[in-house]
Amino acid sequence: MKVVTRSVEETRALGEELGRDLLRAGDVVVLSGELGTGKTALAQGVGRGLEVEGPVVSPTFTLVREYEGRVRLCHVDVYRLERVQEIHELGIEEQLEDSVTLIEWGEVAVNALPADRLEVRLTAGGGPDERIIELVPLGESWRRRSGRLAEIVESRLSDEDHQAPETT
Ligand SMILES: Nc1ncnc2c1ncn2[C@@H]1O[C@H](COP(=O)(O)OP(=O)(O)OP(=O)(O)O)[C@@H](O)[C@H]1O
Ligand SMILES: [Mg+2]
Repeated sequence: MKVVTRSVEETRALGEELGRDLLRAGDVVVLSGELGTGKTALAQGVGRGLEVEGPVVSPTFTLVREYEGRVRLCHVDVYRLERVQEIHELGIEEQLEDSVTLIEWGEVAVNALPADRLEVRLTAGGGPDERIIELVPLGESWRRRSGRLAEIVESRLSDEDHQAPETT
């Protein structure tokens, strides 16, 4: 499932909808994509959807930030981890059940992550403000929710201008 966004605000709006309508305590969302593709922007939107206090900022210098909201948000950036094993040392596992956990650069730690997760893969689009956002639901709980996820994606596509380019 793919969404194309044309501004940082559209990426935030997608995250907001996921946070409001789909995500719940215990979920893990892996955000992957090159530097500056919008992983943190999407996380900011999720924060809005979860009604967290205060703006979501990049966790780069802290590795983990937590926000209290309707559901707690745990925002992790594993970019600077030296070893994948360190993900276990962050202490996020104790919080996993009560939080929505977003992991930037999580693809490097995929073996340390639950099989049941939503993967969000961001890539640059045609113009400077265009991003292609691929949503990949994995595991049982996401299989059950993939219909609702598809509805969210389709509502974002309802504007013709926002159709993802056909893959050949
Ligand atoms: N469609 C778009 N979606 C998201 N961000 C966009 C878009 N268009 C432009 N931008 C800009 O791209 C940048 C995305 O930054 P952001 O910090 O969210 O990226 P990131 O993937 O978290 O990077 P990093 O790997 O450094 O953590 C912002 O400056 C934002 O304004
Ligand atoms: Mg970031």
